[in-house]
Order: sequence, then C-alpha cells, then structure tokens
Amino acid sequence: MSASASHPIGIFDSGVGGLTVLRAVQKLLPSESLIYLGDTARVPYGDKSPETVTRYALEDARFLEAHNVKAIVVACNTATAHALETLRDVASVPVLGVVEPGVKAAVAQTKSKKIAVLGTRGTIRSETYQRAILARLPDAKVLALECPLFVPLVEERFQEHPAARLIAQSYIQPILEAQCDTVILGCTHYPILQPLLNDLLGPYIHIVDAAAACAQALKRLLNDSHLLCQSLEAPAPSYYVTDAPEHFQRLASGILSSDMHGVQQVSLLEAALT
Ligand code: DGL
Repeated sequence: MSASASHPIGIFDSGVGGLTVLRAVQKLLPSESLIYLGDTARVPYGDKSPETVTRYALEDARFLEAHNVKAIVVACNTATAHALETLRDVASVPVLGVVEPGVKAAVAQTKSKKIAVLGTRGTIRSETYQRAILARLPDAKVLALECPLFVPLVEERFQEHPAARLIAQSYIQPILEAQCDTVILGCTHYPILQPLLNDLLGPYIHIVDAAAACAQALKRLLNDSHLLCQSLEAPAPSYYVTDAPEHFQRLASGILSSDMHGVQQVSLLEAALT
C-alpha cells in the first residue's frame, strides 16, 4: 500500500526514551496520528553489537510498516547510528533518524566549532555523530563522550537525585575543559536530564536536543513528500511494547507528564510471520 497523508507516523525506540521524540513530534505536528513501538524486551540497545541492533531495528521497522505508517522515525540514537542506512534500503516509506537533525542544529549553532556529543557506548563508538559533524564542518573539534550511567538514572527516575548531579559533573568535566560551546544530547533519555545539564554547563554552552531537531526534520520531510496530515484533530497515539507494559506505562507517564493507558504488548516475531 502506498503512503497517504492520513496514515500514521511510526516511531520506534529500544524502550521508553523515544517518548522524548514522540513528545517533540506531538508538539510540532499535533494533527498527526502516531504509533509508538518500544522494544522493552530487548532494551538497552546502547551496549549491543551493531549487527544485533540492526537486526532488532529491522524487526521494529517491519512491525510499524505492517501498521501502514507513512514514515518511520528511528527515535533511538543507537539504532540510528548502526542501522539507518540498512533501514532506508529495505523500508517502503521514508525513514528518518535522530543523528542528522541534531548535527545540523549543532553545526548551525556553534561559533567556536568545538562540539561535544553525549551518547551511549554504541552510538559513540560507531563514530556516526563524529563523521556527520565533520562532513558538515570539516574543521570542527568533536568531543564524543560515552555516558552509560545516564540511561539507568533516567529509568530509575533519579534525574533530580544528588547521584545524578555527581555523575553528570564527572561526565561533563571534559566539555568544560575543552571549552565546547555546543553539546548534542545524542541519546533518547538525555533530554530528561537537560535541566541538570543546563545548570552544570552554564549559560554559555548551548544544548541541542536531537528530539526537537528531529521533529523539525520530520515536518520538512512530510511537507516535501506531500504527506502532512490535513485533519484538525489527531487520535491519541497507539503505544506498543515487547515486554512489561505496566513498567513502560509508569515511566512514560512521567516523561509525557500525563497518564498513559492502553499500552499493548506485542511479539515482533509473530508480527513478522503474519
Ligand atoms: N534509546 C537509546 C539511545 O538513544 C538509549 C537506551 C538504550 O541503550 O537502549 O541510544
């Protein structure tokens, strides 16, 4: 079936963190219907091999395609880093990742050309952000930092706990030393820590939220493909997870600041066989 403007947008992530992207998309494109898939049975993706993450991402995308989405947003930075090209090769609809929009915003923002990227181990080691920045700004200095403790801190709702401050202080010290003026939050969970990071980095370091940049890129993509929805009101998003819907629901309600109900558990294997 070919994509039509009335079809939903599919968004997937390894778990709950991609809701920061859903939130940004909802804010910018309130008329759009959204389907969200969180692969909670296999989260985290951040420390898995590129091959494994690519296999998971293909299954996630197939699930969304089976729901007739008109575009797929890879909300997960790690999945974008490892699998975006493969997904684009096989998907029948446009596929958008979070890396390029975040990089574009950072490159437009920096004056000193010293840009820091925070991400999972997988994202940072893939060097996807580093390559994307240097492709746009060849004389940039890129400081790429793995922050593996940030995801569990957010998952445990420790964003305001003193432990989060201590850990963040240690992670961002090299950014202050290198005098970067722009920081990309290259992971779905990190926008939840943005108030803390803003506080620690101070007013002269600009934080790029890849989720917001991604929503802008999605709007452009849909507009250019004549796929922007024209209706005035969108139905509530549909949420699917591969495990533990109650846990997802609890965390999600915190991220979206509203109660969430009706999260459905699905098996991606069964979806692939039908
Ligand atoms: N969604 C992942 C990302 O943005 C973070 C959580 C995970 O490791 O799966 O990289």
